Amino acid sequence: MAVWHAPGRINLIGEHTDYNDGFVLPMALPMGCTASVEGARDGWSVVSTQTSGTVSVSPSGLTGRDSVPEWASYVLGALWLLHDDGVEVPPVRISVDSDVPTGAGLSSSAALVCSVVCALDEHLGLGLDAAGLLALSRRVENDAVGAPTGGMDQLISLRGEEGHALFCDMRDLTSEAVPFTPADSGLALLVVDTRAPHRLVDGEYAARRRGCEAAARQLGVSALRDVTDAEEAVSRLDDEELQRYARHVVTEDARVLDAVEALRAGRLDELGPLFTASHASMRDDFRITVPEVDTAAETLLSAGAIGSRMTGGGFGGCVIGLVPAAEVDAAGDAVRRAFADAGFGEPSLFTAEAAAGARSV
Ligand code: GLA
Repeated sequence: MAVWHAPGRINLIGEHTDYNDGFVLPMALPMGCTASVEGARDGWSVVSTQTSGTVSVSPSGLTGRDSVPEWASYVLGALWLLHDDGVEVPPVRISVDSDVPTGAGLSSSAALVCSVVCALDEHLGLGLDAAGLLALSRRVENDAVGAPTGGMDQLISLRGEEGHALFCDMRDLTSEAVPFTPADSGLALLVVDTRAPHRLVDGEYAARRRGCEAAARQLGVSALRDVTDAEEAVSRLDDEELQRYARHVVTEDARVLDAVEALRAGRLDELGPLFTASHASMRDDFRITVPEVDTAAETLLSAGAIGSRMTGGGFGGCVIGLVPAAEVDAAGDAVRRAFADAGFGEPSLFTAEAAAGARSV
């Protein structure tokens, strides 16, 4: 039996830059998904500890795409694509068990997909290298499930390193582990899962992506990554929405580079203002925040955080703050109070340290 664990992630900075060929700085979480793959005699099936019942597909389901619950398509997607690629896929039973909260913007789907892809690679003896594992994991989400995401989540889930964030260039898919140990600077990374109901996530994500691509076309570049002077580019776009999208992406890429410089030099305090500027850019220019998220980010700042920002695709999900270690409890209480006062549901809070990427268990 092949058993692999792959983590969820937090993106420290660099939001909606991945599908613009830009830069991101995520870290892997200790939470993740464990996938087991074993040979079976009677067909292909998937079982999850988090849902009841087994999802089985017939042999024709590998080509015909039997209709399956969405979560199962993240698992069976790898089988469908391998089958399409002409790989003979003998019957298997796949079991998955995850402790990444779903719908929180912590990449529970990448943890699921990457753990399954790694376990299948071992079980079927595919011999995929790092680039092959990443490519297949991305295709599961983009082509099999049909979510137009940008690849960051799979990259960090596969390649994360304990005690490090991963500086990734999403154009050539190279990555560099950069030390990220806030405790050494007397800080903690506090995560607020706002539990805000995700609204319009899929449609809004796809719309942002289309807008960025349209802006790049009008600017005559292959992707917004190629623009360095945000205001000059904005002056050449006539649509107000595209101007805002371009400004966000170009300034966000620059903030990632600044954050990496700060981390390389061990100056964690410099991350604070970059986090906060990133949040303002997502709120005012990219317009992907919601009231719960803005409240969490502002409350963390007034409770002593040196910087705070929403992480992930937006329209809900998590906010991160770099908080002096001694003030973590008080900051958490302040966020809970602010949520109660605003009539929001109760948030869930935890501190996170950078963990390792996918591994055989
Ligand atoms: C989601 C997507 C990623 C990335 C982020 C925004 O998490 O899966 O590819 O685009 O949103 O940074």
